[in-house]
Amino acid sequence: MSPATPRPGLAMTIEEAGRALATPDAYTDEHRLHAALALLRREAPVHHVRAPGYNPFWAITRHEDVNAIERDHTLWLNAPRPVLRTAVLDAELAARRARGRALSSLVHLDDPEHRRLRAIAADWFRPKAMRAMSERVRELARRHVDLMAELGSSCDFAQQIAAPYPLYAILALLGLPESDFPLMLRLTQELFGHDDRDKGRDAGSRAGYTTALEDLFGYFHDLIAERRARPTGDLASHIAQARIDGRLLSDNEIASYYILIATAGHDTTSSTVAGGLEALIRHPDQLDRLRRDPGLLPAAVEEMIRWVSPVKSFMRTAAADTKVRGVPIAAGESVLLSYPSANRDEDVFDEPFRFDVGREPNRHLAFGTGVHYCLGAALARMEVEALFAALLPRLEAIEPDGEPAWTATTFVGGLKRLPIRYRLA
Ligand code: HEM
Repeated sequence: MSPATPRPGLAMTIEEAGRALATPDAYTDEHRLHAALALLRREAPVHHVRAPGYNPFWAITRHEDVNAIERDHTLWLNAPRPVLRTAVLDAELAARRARGRALSSLVHLDDPEHRRLRAIAADWFRPKAMRAMSERVRELARRHVDLMAELGSSCDFAQQIAAPYPLYAILALLGLPESDFPLMLRLTQELFGHDDRDKGRDAGSRAGYTTALEDLFGYFHDLIAERRARPTGDLASHIAQARIDGRLLSDNEIASYYILIATAGHDTTSSTVAGGLEALIRHPDQLDRLRRDPGLLPAAVEEMIRWVSPVKSFMRTAAADTKVRGVPIAAGESVLLSYPSANRDEDVFDEPFRFDVGREPNRHLAFGTGVHYCLGAALARMEVEALFAALLPRLEAIEPDGEPAWTATTFVGGLKRLPIRYRLA
């Protein structure tokens, strides 16, 4: 049985299954999580969740509904609650917004502000720009596979290879000095992993999140001043110089942009690389198939992204009274869109719990859809593909070297530990 197949006998009520979506620890046990999601898809695909410590929300677990909600961006707004946070953190962030010291980025905004802000960086992430970056990314991938070789015959692939690799690519694009990469690695992990005991600073607390955010704001405010004074042709300079309707962006808007790009471009891709390798180790037939037929790599990358679904959820808030699958939802109420659930939907995927490196079609929603569709999707695909293109031809043997462990999070994450033994050519 594959690791993500819901194990029979994991009995739970629909209420317990709904509360799992607001329980960071629930995401550390893939069997139990997928049992909960399968139950919701089957019995209560539009389910009202009241979880201790969280403001209420509706859990949306079917592919068709996630897709339809994301595509109707005038009815379903990102503001004011784009991401599931505790009620205490929701209140804290609302207060910070009022003081102009909260993140105000693409994921927090709706049209017309969203469209104007997105246009600023859009060209930097289009396939043409990605092609220009591809040699650099391939070089980074080779460097990280060389690092595996230097580490000998065992490593924690999640921490030592998958975590630093995409961060280097995105920070190089942004234009940060390599000496600052370790600091950025720590701060982005603290921000996304703030519910996890191993990653968060003062885990699970409001302080852990906001102090990491403060440090990021502090770091980037210095960078804005530098790039305004001396533009260097990188993405950070481009954003610092950009204008909307003739006005330069505020420091807060620029810092939010930098933070979004640095964080969104990191944990998502590292989780996919680590989870993709874990899936190949657990499905040696699929690893053999891919090694025999490297032409399958683009399809395999898509399957890894579906399989891992590193973004666990985003939220939308109804701008007017509406219905989803006949269930009334009032204006101002929020829905949580579960990507791992949509990507295992039996109505859309043939044998969704089978890891299939040649899956075709693969209409996963791991990058979302509609106007907020992941800006970095082409970069993410290129990075995952480059790493496996560098690794697989050199990989003579690979096996687990201990138990993997998953990050406790309701937002972005995946494997935080993947101990492996291997032999590289
Ligand atoms: C948005 C997934 C990698 C930048 C998103 C969204 C998802 C997502 C689900 C929200 C989409 C929606 O609301 O419809 C992923 C996955 C990745 C990945 C699964 C890796 C496998 C990246 C990378 C970058 C990036 C490498 C590089 C900068 C962004 C940005 C947004 C975004 C800027 C906000 C777009 C907007 O709101 O208009 N991503 N992402 N992502 N992602 Fe990614």
